[in-house]
Amino acid sequence: TDKLIKLNTGAEIHAVGLGTWRSTEQEAYNAVLSALKAGYRHIDCAAIYGNEAPVGKAVRDSGVPRNEIFFTTKLWCTQQRTPEKALRESLERLGFDYVDLYLMHWPVALKTSNIPKGSSVLCMPKNPDNPDARDVDLNDWDFRKTWELMQKLPETGLTKAIGVSNFSIKNLEALFASPSFKIVPACNQVELHPLLPQNELIEFCEKKGIVIEAYSPLGSIGSPVLKDKTIIDLAHKYNVEPAQICISWGFSRGYVVLPKSIHEKRIISNTKIVKLEKEDLDKIAQLPKIVGERRYVQPNFVPFPTFE
Ligand code: A2P
Repeated sequence: TDKLIKLNTGAEIHAVGLGTWRSTEQEAYNAVLSALKAGYRHIDCAAIYGNEAPVGKAVRDSGVPRNEIFFTTKLWCTQQRTPEKALRESLERLGFDYVDLYLMHWPVALKTSNIPKGSSVLCMPKNPDNPDARDVDLNDWDFRKTWELMQKLPETGLTKAIGVSNFSIKNLEALFASPSFKIVPACNQVELHPLLPQNELIEFCEKKGIVIEAYSPLGSIGSPVLKDKTIIDLAHKYNVEPAQICISWGFSRGYVVLPKSIHEKRIISNTKIVKLEKEDLDKIAQLPKIVGERRYVQPNFVPFPTFE
C-alpha cells in the first residue's frame, strides 16, 4: 500500500519508509535491497547509525532510479556547528549527489573532545525540553544556531528539504521565536507508537505545516506493544501480524511511519496496510491509559557518538 504525503516544500513523501537504525552494515545492505525490491521508495538513515555506506550502496545497486526514492539522513549532535560539512560527508558515504530530507537528529549539540575515542557512552543533556538546554561542553551553542546554518542547505542542492527530529513542542516554539528563524521544518521525526501516541505534538505540528514521522512505530526492541493483548486480538481479527496493526494505525492517523526490520518477510508484510474500523482505532487510543505510556528513548538521554 502506498500513499504520498505533501511536505511544506511542495515535495511528496511516501507514508511508509524503511527504518535502518541498529542494522549492521551487511544487514542494512540486505534490508534496503529487499525493501526496494518489495516496492519501498522511502529509506530513513542517519550518520550516527554507521551504515550510510552500505545503505547508499544498496540503493545504487538496486537498479531503482535515485529520483524515485525518497531518502533521508540526519545531522549528528557533534556536527551541529558544521551542518554543510556533515551533509557533504554523509553524501560521500552514501554515494549520492543529494538527499531528499536532512534532519537535525536531536535538539542538542554535543562535543566529542573529552570523550575517549571509540567509546559509546550515554550523555545526558541538561533538559531537552528547555529551549536553553545545552550540553555541558557547549556553552555557546544551541539548536537555534544549528537551524540558522541548516536553513542555507536547500539552496546548495545537497538536500531538497530540511527538518528536525526529537523536537518537543517547547523546542519548536523556541525555534520559531529565534530571530534567525526563516524555514519551517518539513518534518519532525519522533518516537511514536500505540503506547506513545504523541497527540499534542501531532496536533501542534499539523497546525504549523510540519509532517510528523514516526520512528520505533512498533515500540522498538523488546516492544511490549507487539505483545499487547489488544494489539494481538486485533491482529487476529484482521488476519495480519501485530506489527501491521501498529503500522496501519499510524498510517490511518495521517503521518509517515518508519518500521525497521532486517527480515525480508517482515519488510514485505510491514507495507501491507489494513483499514482499521473506528471502534478498533478507539481501542488502540485507550492503550496508554490502560497499559501506561512507554518510551524507548528516555527524554534525558542522547546516545553518544563515536565518530568525528
Ligand atoms: P527485526 O529487524 O529483527 O525484524 P521499531 O521499528 O519500532 O524500532 O521496531 C522494530 C523492531 O521490531 C525491530 O527489533 C524489528 O526486528 C522488529 N520487527 C520489525 N517488523 C516486525 C514484524 N513485522 N513483526 C515483529 N517484529 C518486527
